[in-house]
Amino acid sequence: MLYTLYFILLVGVLSLLSYAPADRQIHYDQIYNDDNGYQDGIGSSSSPSWLTSSQSSLQQIISWSWRFWTGRRHPVFEPPKRHGYFLHITDLHIDEEYIAGSTVDSDCHRLPSGSDSGATAGLLGTPGEKCDAPVELAEKTLDYIAREWRHKIDFVVWTGDNSRHDWDKKYRPRKRKNIYHLNERVTNMMQRAFWPTARDPRHIPLVPTLGNNDVYPHNTIGGPNEDGDLLDYFARLWQTWIPTDQRATFRRGGYFAVNVGPRLRILSLNTMYFYHKNDAVEDCDAFGTPAYEMIQWFEHELLKARAAHVRVYVMGHVPPTTKHYRQSCLQEYVRVASQFPDVLKGHFFGHLNMDHFLLLDARDENEDFRTSSRKNASAVMDEEEDDVHVTRNVNKYVNWLRDMYEAIDPIDHKRASAHRMPVVAVQVAPSVLPVYYPSIRIYRYEIHDDDDRAQCRHRDLKPHGTLLEYDQYFSNTTQWELDLDRDFDEAHLDYQFEYNSKKEYGLEDLTIASYFEFAKRLIDDDEDGNQLWAKYCRNMFVQSLNDRFS
Ligand SMILES: *[C@@H]1O[C@H](CO)[C@@H](O)[C@H](O)[C@H]1NC(C)=O
Ligand SMILES: *[C@@H]1O[C@H](CO)[C@@H](O)[C@H](O)[C@H]1NC(C)=O
Repeated sequence: MLYTLYFILLVGVLSLLSYAPADRQIHYDQIYNDDNGYQDGIGSSSSPSWLTSSQSSLQQIISWSWRFWTGRRHPVFEPPKRHGYFLHITDLHIDEEYIAGSTVDSDCHRLPSGSDSGATAGLLGTPGEKCDAPVELAEKTLDYIAREWRHKIDFVVWTGDNSRHDWDKKYRPRKRKNIYHLNERVTNMMQRAFWPTARDPRHIPLVPTLGNNDVYPHNTIGGPNEDGDLLDYFARLWQTWIPTDQRATFRRGGYFAVNVGPRLRILSLNTMYFYHKNDAVEDCDAFGTPAYEMIQWFEHELLKARAAHVRVYVMGHVPPTTKHYRQSCLQEYVRVASQFPDVLKGHFFGHLNMDHFLLLDARDENEDFRTSSRKNASAVMDEEEDDVHVTRNVNKYVNWLRDMYEAIDPIDHKRASAHRMPVVAVQVAPSVLPVYYPSIRIYRYEIHDDDDRAQCRHRDLKPHGTLLEYDQYFSNTTQWELDLDRDFDEAHLDYQFEYNSKKEYGLEDLTIASYFEFAKRLIDDDEDGNQLWAKYCRNMFVQSLNDRFS
């Protein structure tokens, strides 16, 4: 017995000297640190603080010898994960009609004829123009994610609009079968990118949702009686990711719940039911209708999660704003969300292509913000087809956001409680579709595997599921094209680091309180405030309209 132990230790020392451990989990933080300067991050070391370094190396020796003999990780000595990462990807808008070199005037669908002059389509998309994205952009983006991020992330938030717009109505009208086909292509790419590999055999949960361009007709989807076919279609298409016990729910309304980690669940909403352009459903206060049912479900899921000590992220395509939701639906959304600050730790949306956040106020007396922004909403958005903002109207939107940040009243933390927080903070991530530049986002979040009693022992711990920070990445496809010195099909696309929420904005974490404080710093009318605002605006348009917001 004793000899066996000595022998295992000896092998451990030898294995330590002879090969670098292939344990990504231990190395992972280091890799990540090198890439992005997360060194200052909370919990940036994966070893718990009570572990001294000598204990830790002894542990590693035993753990490595265990691996050597059994080929598996040591079950006891694996340090608990203190935080994880996930990807938010949105609005791929692939277009099979897209032709590089075609005219922008033809929605990037037709090559110039003799007399045509003007902008033409790029190889990987046409930033700043009203064109959808070539299929290759989605492929190369997912290849990049599979190369660089797959093994580092725990799950994927994927907020819809995979299909192209219906801009070229005259020559290339979009039919239902086109929408389905484009969704199949993107689904296949996602499956390939996140399928278990020999290097990383995990099943990575991926959470889809319907975008306004994934339904037919455009923006329109009713309940199961009207659109049962479409719901069935997506239920089958996404069956890998919709848990079996959620399929009936999905078929009823296009929403579902899925666990993405220990005590962590995502609610994927069908925001088409809240969207004011969807005429196939009624208001959220119309008893028994699809939108009403979804609100009931949302609230019920949050109650269930609270009872089970589960933390929840909510996601959808169209973000909750006065500009996009029916008034009754926004009110209901905010009413429900504001009652679960202890459960609901993040709101993730796409649709707008711009990188920004929203603050919603549940206090009824704050009618001012609601009515005023509602009145101005139509002025900004409705004149825009499909809500794609390229360069028109962006100043208006930016001013509207600034008004929102200004109008929000201070949070009375004495009155706020675990069951009530008057403000809701919502993340809107920029798109892969290069309205500006293609971009993706990586979040870091807090993990505790035991329940929150751990917090009493470690006062520095934030509640399980707390969003800590995010990294924004983009790809300068214009530069990529200039640098292309290989066959287009073979050439890799790499995204580059744009900014980190903590470093760039001083956001301590991504909680409501931090966002509130950030909003107020943003609108400070002094030099610091103005600089921060300019930075925020440059990031909002992924560095593509820097002249306008310097
Ligand atoms: C709406 O917009 C107009 C001009 O764009 C502005 O003058 C007005 O103050 C805005 N309304 C409110 C109540 O914010
Ligand atoms: C992207 O590349 C183009 C072409 O080199 C350059 O003009 C532009 O400044 C770059 N933009 C960013 C944000 O790097």
